[in-house]
Amino acid sequence: MKTAQGWRLGIGDIQIMTGPRHRPQLKRPMWIIVLVSLVSFFLIGSYVYPRQSYAACYIFSSSGCKSISEWLPPTPSRVFTDEEIAARVVSRDLLKISIQSKNPKIAFMFLTPGSLPFEKLWDKFFHGHEDRFSIYIHASSEKPRHVSRYFVDRDIRSEKVVWGTISMVDAERRLLANALQDPDNQHFVLLSDSCVPLHNFDYVYNYLMDTNMSFVDSFEDPGPHGNARYSEHMLPEVEKKDFRKGAQWFSMKRQHALIVLADNLYYSIFKQYCKPGMEGRNCYADEHYLQTFFHMIDPIGIANWSVTHVDWSEGKWHPKSYRAQDVTYELLKNITSIDKTTHVTSGEKKETQIKQCLWNGMKRPCYLFARKFYPEALDNLMHLFSNYTTV
Ligand SMILES: *[C@@H]1O[C@H](CO)[C@@H](O)[C@H](O)[C@H]1NC(C)=O
Ligand SMILES: *[C@@H]1O[C@H](CO)[C@@H](O)[C@H](O)[C@H]1NC(C)=O
Ligand SMILES: *[C@@H]1O[C@H](CO)[C@@H](O)[C@H](O)[C@H]1NC(C)=O
Ligand SMILES: *[C@@H]1O[C@H](CO)[C@@H](O)[C@H](O)[C@H]1NC(C)=O
Repeated sequence: MKTAQGWRLGIGDIQIMTGPRHRPQLKRPMWIIVLVSLVSFFLIGSYVYPRQSYAACYIFSSSGCKSISEWLPPTPSRVFTDEEIAARVVSRDLLKISIQSKNPKIAFMFLTPGSLPFEKLWDKFFHGHEDRFSIYIHASSEKPRHVSRYFVDRDIRSEKVVWGTISMVDAERRLLANALQDPDNQHFVLLSDSCVPLHNFDYVYNYLMDTNMSFVDSFEDPGPHGNARYSEHMLPEVEKKDFRKGAQWFSMKRQHALIVLADNLYYSIFKQYCKPGMEGRNCYADEHYLQTFFHMIDPIGIANWSVTHVDWSEGKWHPKSYRAQDVTYELLKNITSIDKTTHVTSGEKKETQIKQCLWNGMKRPCYLFARKFYPEALDNLMHLFSNYTTV
C-alpha cells in the first residue's frame, strides 16, 4: 500500500508541474521542458530510492526490482470459506503473540508403546538441569516401568495408537495439550522410544531456545509416496501444490503448538481423507498433516528439517536400525557432524534434494537426537555418552 501511495503522490507532483487542464495549448519548448522534467523526476526518483521506489521500478525495469507482485494486491485464486478465514486469522494473531516465561523449559514428549529402553541414558542427559525441562510420556499399549526418577509419574492419559492412522496425530496433540498446561514450557520436542540424545543438555537447550524456528520436516515429493497420496476430496482448502511430506518427529515453539491445537479445519480434512487404504491409496496423516499445515500457515516459521536424525540411505522400507556393535564413537561423531539435510523423492526418479542446515541464518549441524537404536545399544551409548556429547 505504501508503494501505491508513492505512485499516486508522483502523479500529483506531475500534475502540479504540467499545470491544470485549462491551459491546453503548450508551446513546443514548454513541451520539451515538461518532458525533460518528467524523465528527470523519475531518474532522480529511481536514483534516490533505488529499491523502495516501485513506481520508478515499474517504469524503468521489471527485472531489476525485487518483485512487482509485491505491490500488487494479492489475487486469491478463489474466495476463502468462513472456516479458512477463521483459521488463518487465528493463526496469524497467535503467531504474533510473544509468550515469555521467567523460567523457560523444554517439554520432552515421548510417544512410545510401553517402557522406554533408553531411560537410563536420558537420566544422564537430564541430570543437573532439573528446572529446565519437563517430561510427558504417552504409552499407547502398556504401562511403562520407569527406572529414572525424572520419568516417574510423568505418564499422561493415553489411547491406542494404530501406526499410520490419525490416532498417531491424536496422540501428538494429546501430548501437546498436556505439555501446554505448564506455561513455562516454551519448546516442545516429540521423541520415540528408539531416540537418543546426540549432545549434552546445554547444547540442546540453547539450540532450541535461542531461535524462533520450529523444526518440522517438510518437503515436496512428487512421487508415489508423496503427492500420489493426495486426494482431491481435500479441495478447496488443501491444494495439491501445497501437499507436503516429512518425518513426524517435530520440535516446535509454543506459538506453533498453540496453532496446532487451535486447528480443527485442516485436522478434520486429513482425518477424513488421509488414511491407509483410502481409494486404493495409502495416506499416513502423521507424515502429511503437520507438514502440509505449516507449509500453508507459516512456511517461513519452520526449518523444513527435523532435529532427529534417521538413516534412510539403505533405501529400504524401514530406516537403518543400530545394533550394539554399530554404536561406536565414530558413528556418533559422523551423525553429529552432518550439516546438510537430504530428502529423496519416491518413485523412479529418486531425486535428491540437499540443503544446508541454517540455524538463525548460520551453518550449524542439523541434529540433536537420533533414531533408531535397538535396546541392546544402551550400554555402549552410556559408555560413550560423555565423550560424544562434548561439543
Ligand atoms: C524471536 O522473535 C522475537 C519477537 O519477534 C524477537 O524479539 C526475538 O529477538 C527473536 N529471537 C530470536 C532468537 O531470533
Ligand atoms: C521452508 O520451505 C518453504 C517452502 O516450502 C520456504 O518458503 C521456507 O523459506 C523454508 N524455510 C526455511 C527456513 O528455509
Ligand atoms: C563415518 O563417515 C565416513 C565418511 O563419510 C565413512 O567413511 C565411515 O564409514 C563412517 N563411519 C561410520 C561408523 O558410520
Ligand atoms: C573418551 O575420551 C577419552 C579422552 O579423549 C578417551 O581416553 C577415552 O578412551 C574415550 N572413551 C571411549 C569409551 O571412547
